[in-house]
Amino acid sequence: MMGSAVERTELRARREVVSFVRRSNRMRPNQRRAWETHRNQFVVDVPRMDTSTSIHPAVSVDLIEAFGREADLIVEIGPGAGESLIPMAAARPQANLLAIEVYQPAIARMLAQLVRTGIDNVRIVEADAVAALEYLLPDQSVAEIWLFFPDPWHKARHHKRRLLTPEFAALSAARMKPGGIWRIATDWADYADRIREVLDSNPCLANVHPDGWAPRWATRPITHFEQRGLDAGRQIFDLAYRRVG
Ligand SMILES: C[S@@+](CC[C@H](N)C(=O)[O-])C[C@H]1O[C@@H](n2cnc3c(N)ncnc32)[C@H](O)[C@@H]1O
Repeated sequence: MMGSAVERTELRARREVVSFVRRSNRMRPNQRRAWETHRNQFVVDVPRMDTSTSIHPAVSVDLIEAFGREADLIVEIGPGAGESLIPMAAARPQANLLAIEVYQPAIARMLAQLVRTGIDNVRIVEADAVAALEYLLPDQSVAEIWLFFPDPWHKARHHKRRLLTPEFAALSAARMKPGGIWRIATDWADYADRIREVLDSNPCLANVHPDGWAPRWATRPITHFEQRGLDAGRQIFDLAYRRVG
């Protein structure tokens, strides 16, 4: 469980090093239009601290109200423009899907797709996933977490920017319901090994496939990011962990 004050302080301090590049949020005219027309329907407004991807610790957001109903909550971290999120949300009309993404132009593209496909079980938070999990989601509230192709930060000097650290694993495990599943995919072998090491050492998480990798999750569509990895000859690693205890 994410619990001790020390763990929390370390997590906060670590946020000076974030897992994303702070890029310009400049949008193309069609993205700007989608953002301005549809953000109120899908993007959950959150109070900020110092940056546009932060969340104020005293946030109070009613997700049931944001979705307009109570249902199993699935959280996708870093869905980009929702290339895999949107078809998977369409296939799960009974679930509420919360997308946590830092990059506003990608969110604008996701909004356009949501409107085009008529999907209404997705809501979006524009924020660093660490802050969103820490401040927005109660303990034991999430049925599934999806993390597909997190930025690999493959150079050794950048490894400290990787999202999946022991502290982030503890935070995520705390937010998962007992029996909840965390599904992960990456095309970087050393990151995959590190993720397994981190998750295996968390007592609240158990590998669903104890002897190794999960089979490729058949319902996960191949995104441009995955295809780029495949084209470069990289292997895809899937993982699934269950919240225990
Ligand atoms: C390599 S892309 C993968 C996108 C998508 N999951 C896919 O498979 O096509 C990583 C995404 O994660 C987002 N991201 C990185 N760090 C994040 C964080 N701390 N919180 C939320 N989103 C993040 C990036 O903006 C980007 O859209």
